[in-house]
Amino acid sequence: MSLKDDILKELINSGDYISGQALAEKFEKSRAAVWKAVKSLISDGYSIDAVTNKGYILTSGNNVLSARSVKAYMEKETDVIYLPSIDSTNNYCKKLLAQGKEGTFLVVSDCQTSGRGRQGKSFYSPPGSGVYFSLVIRPHTTLQNSVTATTAAAVAVCKAIEKLTNKAPKIKWVNDVYLDGKKICGILTEAITNFEDSTVDSVIIGIGINISTSSFPSEITNAGCLDADVNKNKLVALTADYLLTTAVSGYNDFIDYYRSHSIIIGEKIKFIKDSQVTYATATAIDETGGLEVELEDNSRIVLRSGEITIRKID
Ligand code: BTN
Repeated sequence: MSLKDDILKELINSGDYISGQALAEKFEKSRAAVWKAVKSLISDGYSIDAVTNKGYILTSGNNVLSARSVKAYMEKETDVIYLPSIDSTNNYCKKLLAQGKEGTFLVVSDCQTSGRGRQGKSFYSPPGSGVYFSLVIRPHTTLQNSVTATTAAAVAVCKAIEKLTNKAPKIKWVNDVYLDGKKICGILTEAITNFEDSTVDSVIIGIGINISTSSFPSEITNAGCLDADVNKNKLVALTADYLLTTAVSGYNDFIDYYRSHSIIIGEKIKFIKDSQVTYATATAIDETGGLEVELEDNSRIVLRSGEITIRKID
């Protein structure tokens, strides 16, 4: 990490004044080097006050999305790339993977010009009112296991929102996050598999959160936003940290949380099965995140993927 990264992380974690002398000692640099790094952070857009006899403090205006801030808020060590605007953060990750980029990494943007959703749909990603990011993890497992990444992502987003706001987000199977009956976050997970041994080389978990988006194109129905004063860098960092934790800790740790936040248990739903619209009641989420449903003829099946519609909000 550079001195700028170190200082920013220190100011974020402290939340209080830190003297130039203390920073200089901690990072074994001169006070002049510390001051130069602070000035450079300020010119990057960080709100840092310098007060005589007290030192430096990061003020609350630090809501400019940047790689440096996301990284500073993260506990896990991950490469973070920020792009003010991009066609799609998932596409960008694919490009980097094709170029041979290794390890886990996170691509974050303020705006997507061709944001992608599930089933070939687009994802509305206007500038300035949301965050759009993709985390690449390396599960080194079979595809079956890595499917859980998608459910883990919904849990990670909800946990981050709960930690940073007083909102109570819910999950609509498989992985849409809802608030007050409106979809505020979409998740698109894509796996890059190794054909030789059928293992998953990397999983790209793309997440778009509407923070203050108040109007949507007419074809998008039932979308809403978080509508909370939330630090975007923290929201991305916490979500990524939770995801990186569950990616190694396994599925059982979050299935109960997933169930308790589900909005579909007991609801009448519809979905496409064998090319036919099928009506059912959602009865439970199984141990691997599958949705148990009771069909109209009282038979029971488990859905493993696909889209469902809750009939009262369709
Ligand atoms: C859906 O609701 O259908 C999924 C939407 C996923 C959107 C995110 S935004 C970041 C990442 N990049 C994309 O192009 N899509 C995902």
